[in-house]
Amino acid sequence: MVKQAIIPLAGMGTRLLPLTSVIPKELLPINGKPSFEYILDECIDAGIKEIIFIISNKKKVIKKYFYNDNFFKKIIKKKTKDRRIKLEYSKIKKYKKMIKFVYQNVPRGTGDAVLKCKKLIRSNFFLILLPDDLIIKKNCSRTMIKLHKRYKSSIIASKRVKKNNVSRWGIFDLKKINKNNFHIKDVIEKPSVKLAPSTYALIGRYILPSKIFKELKDQKPGRNGEIHITDAIRSLIHKKHKFIGHIFAGKYLDCGSMKGYINSSSEISRL
Ligand code: G1P
Repeated sequence: MVKQAIIPLAGMGTRLLPLTSVIPKELLPINGKPSFEYILDECIDAGIKEIIFIISNKKKVIKKYFYNDNFFKKIIKKKTKDRRIKLEYSKIKKYKKMIKFVYQNVPRGTGDAVLKCKKLIRSNFFLILLPDDLIIKKNCSRTMIKLHKRYKSSIIASKRVKKNNVSRWGIFDLKKINKNNFHIKDVIEKPSVKLAPSTYALIGRYILPSKIFKELKDQKPGRNGEIHITDAIRSLIHKKHKFIGHIFAGKYLDCGSMKGYINSSSEISRL
């Protein structure tokens, strides 16, 4: 059963500077709520019971968002008739019960961040959601959990991208099973157009086996001197572990860039 999820939030957010010099990008609102709440709601609606947030000392304000009880209690005492504040506070309290915090203070890549959660993961498979990758209109995590039950394997979300854009993504080598699912034969982190085995990109939803932790531990720094999840997945594929790619049905919104972030607000406001 997939009941635990990891959300890495320790990234520096340089693509959204100067905003991110003072506020974590995940707290920036999209249509009135922090972007990470969309990701949280997706995994809670998919049946996840425990979520691990990876933050850094510089992004402690994310934890504060959930641990500001005295502030809320004082305000609610003063504004007894304001239902909205009470509702928002009870939502935050519900989230808080489900979230654990782990720290990655040196930016050594998403793989290194995930490795820091090793001790907290109790089952054979867990979910990872990258907060820059919003998927709306259809719950991608829920579909992936169903597929995991069917194929009894790791599942990774995918979408086709333009050929001249492959170097922005992890790219799969694959063998189709049916219209929306494929066997992953290999994956390369941000290849050149020449080296890309396809135009199927890895999108930030992974159901991974706990065996990945050993691969992450043994992984040498890859692109930009960072430890990448993609490289650890690659090692497991080479050891014959089964990985299925799923071309999701929802709409993808890239919130990691300024253009994408602005577009996300307008897309979500039209839902
Ligand atoms: C990360 C992954 C990459 C994946 C992408 C999806 O890259 O390393 O494999 O395709 O997310 O958004 P990043 O966005 O951190 O550069």
